[in-house]
Amino acid sequence: MTAVSQPVLRVYRDADRLAAEAADHIIASAGEAVRARGRFTLALAGGSTPEKTYSLLAEPARAPRIDWSKVFLFFGDERYLPPEDSRSNFNMARRALLNRVAVPPGQVFPIPTDCKDPAESAAVYARTLATAFGVPPDGPPPRFDLVLLGLGDDGHTASLFPGAAALNEDRAWVTSSPPGVLPPPVDRVTLTFPVLNAAYEALFLVAGEKKAGPLHDVMTGKASRVQMPAAGVRPTDGALVWLVDRAAARLVRPAS
Ligand code: 6PG
Repeated sequence: MTAVSQPVLRVYRDADRLAAEAADHIIASAGEAVRARGRFTLALAGGSTPEKTYSLLAEPARAPRIDWSKVFLFFGDERYLPPEDSRSNFNMARRALLNRVAVPPGQVFPIPTDCKDPAESAAVYARTLATAFGVPPDGPPPRFDLVLLGLGDDGHTASLFPGAAALNEDRAWVTSSPPGVLPPPVDRVTLTFPVLNAAYEALFLVAGEKKAGPLHDVMTGKASRVQMPAAGVRPTDGALVWLVDRAAARLVRPAS
């Protein structure tokens, strides 16, 4: 039985410093993955916090430090909206990163939002994962080298919302979910806990005063994964890293 590793918490003075450190962390993870496994499979987070990190990764100071020809980009979740909609996670990633670095187009895997419905999108994306990772669709979940995640004010992560049926999904790799209580009020498609917890590394990026409460409740174990789904992210054989700014860390203290 593999012991679940202890979470690593690093606190940075502000959101800009956090974004820079997160970009450098991703660069290091990419290098390790390529050395170990010949490629880097990365699931991007949506929302606003990671946008600055994505933009820094595309800057001349950092972009050359990743071999983009070996990067395979996926999404941890998606709002069920057209990719042209500014609220789409793919739209944000394309603007901040994808349009600015040389990832081969065949190595970018958006969650489809033009299916019959979000449930069909989830099934399609699960098949996409099986093909991209070269694993049987009914076998163990694919192991991402790195899954980026955010923390919602209500403790959600990806599109795993408090009390949602998606939290109980212990077989499907991808599922759909009705809107959470936080905007935008649109249906979602999300990776499930089995996939998140199969990752070699889960990396949370958390900034701002409003995250201090959920960060405390998740990191101290006060909140269950039903109350705050971010508490359910504990890779069974991988690293769990929290990169946060001081405002979000107000109620927690790093171990060091
Ligand atoms: C989404 C994200 C979501 C996000 C959190 C935090 O689609 O909204 O995947 O899980 O990471 O809501 O969002 P912020 O970083 O904007 O606070």
